[in-house]
Amino acid sequence: MAKIYNWAILGCGHIAEKFALELKELPNANLYATASRNLNKAVNFAVKFGFKKSYGSYLEMANDPDIDVVYIATPHTFHLEHTLLCLNHKKAVLCEKAFAINSKEVKQMITSSKENNTFLMEAFWVIFKPKLKKVIELIETENLGKLKFVKSDFYFNAEYNPKNRLYNIELGGGSLLDIGIYPVFTALTLLGTPNEIKVTPHFSPTGSEKSISMLFSYKNGATAILSSSFETDYKNETELCFENGLIKYERFSENPIQLFKDGNKQEIFFEATKNSGYKYEAIHVMDCLDKGIIESPIITNQVSLDLMSILDKIRKKAGIFYPNHDTV
Ligand SMILES: NC(=O)c1ccc[n+]([C@@H]2O[C@H](COP(=O)([O-])OP(=O)(O)OC[C@H]3O[C@@H](n4cnc5c(N)ncnc54)[C@H](OP(=O)(O)O)[C@@H]3O)[C@@H](O)[C@H]2O)c1
Repeated sequence: MAKIYNWAILGCGHIAEKFALELKELPNANLYATASRNLNKAVNFAVKFGFKKSYGSYLEMANDPDIDVVYIATPHTFHLEHTLLCLNHKKAVLCEKAFAINSKEVKQMITSSKENNTFLMEAFWVIFKPKLKKVIELIETENLGKLKFVKSDFYFNAEYNPKNRLYNIELGGGSLLDIGIYPVFTALTLLGTPNEIKVTPHFSPTGSEKSISMLFSYKNGATAILSSSFETDYKNETELCFENGLIKYERFSENPIQLFKDGNKQEIFFEATKNSGYKYEAIHVMDCLDKGIIESPIITNQVSLDLMSILDKIRKKAGIFYPNHDTV
């Protein structure tokens, strides 16, 4: 019989709601506890989604011996502190992206996972979705030749509010770590770490970056043109240009993937995703826990470290700084 895992949510905010909604669908996930800095908020969240227990502090939750796995959904600047809290209490951790603020913090998180012999994974959920799996399958099976260009963007209109997480640099605000991380992840997954990076950032009045364009160059002659922005609702697309074909897809929509090859255009369908698809990463975490492993074979520690190291380089070039956190 499948083991049932007691899940806890640390930080009852926006993304935690979306995650909890999908966690509820999984038969081996027990919605066990919520933790907030405010007990009423934790109770309301628990009632809304059917969690059994609520805690008015993250530490009290970490002290509960019956919790197996914690989903950390606080702003990036707290990921290190909250991950160490959970790992030191021997709770498996699924921590939201951006995994931390810099690679120094990511290294500390990985070290703690190893020292505590406890599972840790960055919640890079899109890679587990059927659409992305289908894209990878097409790359592996369609004989498209070498990948020459990646074009990938992620934009959404975020109304300017200096206190909002997206603009508040105390909370790691800026489009790069919030959404630019997705195109950077795409380039990393398909082309690896670039040799050269050029960036053009634009800043908001808080000093957070609100839009950024990035150009990655690779030793093998490939190029990635990436961007993110809080200043427009369009677009959220990726184009992968190979020697012998082109794959084009929208990151989150259910629209078919487009494959251009031999002068033809094909629409490629994939298993539809109810809601956003956060459940797939939770399924993967529980598969890893079933196997007794402390590192995902898909979002490995090295993937998270490589991703953050590229983000560090971009931030350094762009002049994006966070108070009380080193650049790298
Ligand atoms: N995977 C995705 O698709 C996705 C989407 C959106 C966001 N995210 C990531 O998820 C994380 C949280 O994003 P979010 O949009 O959910 O953020 P949010 O709603 O603004 O905040 C999340 C929660 O963090 C807790 N928190 C702890 N210390 C805080 C502080 N000093 N100031 C503000 N909040 C604090 C709060 O929970 P309590 O008040 O309950 O303690 C708050 O509700 C970010 O790292 C973000 O990149 C991922």
